[in-house]
Amino acid sequence: MYGKLLMMQRFYLDWNATSPLWPEVKDAIIKALDSVGNASSIHQEGQQARAIVERARRTLARAIDAPAQSVIFTGGATEANNQVLRTHAKYTRKPFIVCTSVEHPSVIEVVEELGKQKRVRTRMIKVDRLGRLDLEDVKQALEDGATLVSVMFANNEIGNVYPVKEVVELVHQYDAICHVDATQAFGRLPLSFRELGADVMTLSVHKMGGPKGVGALIIKEGFIQESMLAGGHQERGRRPGTENVPAIAGLDAVSKLVQEKQPLWREQMERRRQYLLDGLLAKLGGTIELRGDQDARLPNTLNIAFEGVTGEDALLSLDLAGVSASSGSACTAGSIEPSHVVLAMGFDSAEAKRSVRLSVGPGEGVEDLDGAVDVIVSNIRRLM
Ligand SMILES: Cc1ncc(COP(=O)(O)O)c(C=O)c1O
Repeated sequence: MYGKLLMMQRFYLDWNATSPLWPEVKDAIIKALDSVGNASSIHQEGQQARAIVERARRTLARAIDAPAQSVIFTGGATEANNQVLRTHAKYTRKPFIVCTSVEHPSVIEVVEELGKQKRVRTRMIKVDRLGRLDLEDVKQALEDGATLVSVMFANNEIGNVYPVKEVVELVHQYDAICHVDATQAFGRLPLSFRELGADVMTLSVHKMGGPKGVGALIIKEGFIQESMLAGGHQERGRRPGTENVPAIAGLDAVSKLVQEKQPLWREQMERRRQYLLDGLLAKLGGTIELRGDQDARLPNTLNIAFEGVTGEDALLSLDLAGVSASSGSACTAGSIEPSHVVLAMGFDSAEAKRSVRLSVGPGEGVEDLDGAVDVIVSNIRRLM
């Protein structure tokens, strides 16, 4: 009996939280664990570590169509987002920071905290019932003197893709700074930093088969990005601290895969998401409510509310039955809080608590999802 329990098949549908390493990425990390040098040391071991870091800088730059010198490695996107916002608040004469009300907590909570300082003005841009932005509201904030606008490329909870290029152009008409958090877009959508034109973009790689705890700031030529930390000259003084060479080697490997495979991955994720959705619709039909903008969205994300079922009950029973999903929101003291994203879309707390996020990764086939559909359908029917 225990043998059977242990062998229960698991279906991992939480790629927006994080993802499994690709074998090539894992191999690159393992190999780099043998690198003994500090990338700042001048001896051979140091130079070997430096070579890994500089190669990764070039590979990531190619994957996102950016100049290599614009890439600054960080310990992930949370850190990078904090750096952009906190340094802007600190070094700008009259800072007025604007973000959307659906940003990741690593933006929204920092903006809320900065807003408590008397010298920093802040504003959150509202979204509609589908989580869409009104560019007129962004324009109004700029008219009112916004100095920095932070907008995500794609939303981690509902999967909406935002009109970032239009936002950048608008922000630049007012000589303000535009920050784009591209964490959920990396490897999933075509990403050209040059075309986007943002002053600064942030990302990490663990949502698409890369290692956790490593990310990057991508800085436009001429844009002065101050350091948030002191104590070292690494990353041209913008991010002090000894480089995490194995993680950076993993970032190199995943960036190489992204260059080769992003269009294929996108197609595969789109097909898998659709297959999952069709399977659920066929069996649960009208009891399903899809959330978010279905016309401009990530290829891999479904945000669904099942009639009469709380997200918490759904997630717990799905987990026990082998499906890993998420509500996309924080779990505090053992209970799931309503998502700030779904609340911002105008749903009340009870409605927001029904959101379940299913996010798939790429893969050749779709049949493996049949098992996931069966588990979800039987568990949701039982809970209804
Ligand atoms: C849109 C977005 N920004 C930032 C982050 C934070 O990234 P990291 O886990 O690398 O700190 C995430 C991850 O959840 C995200 O989805």
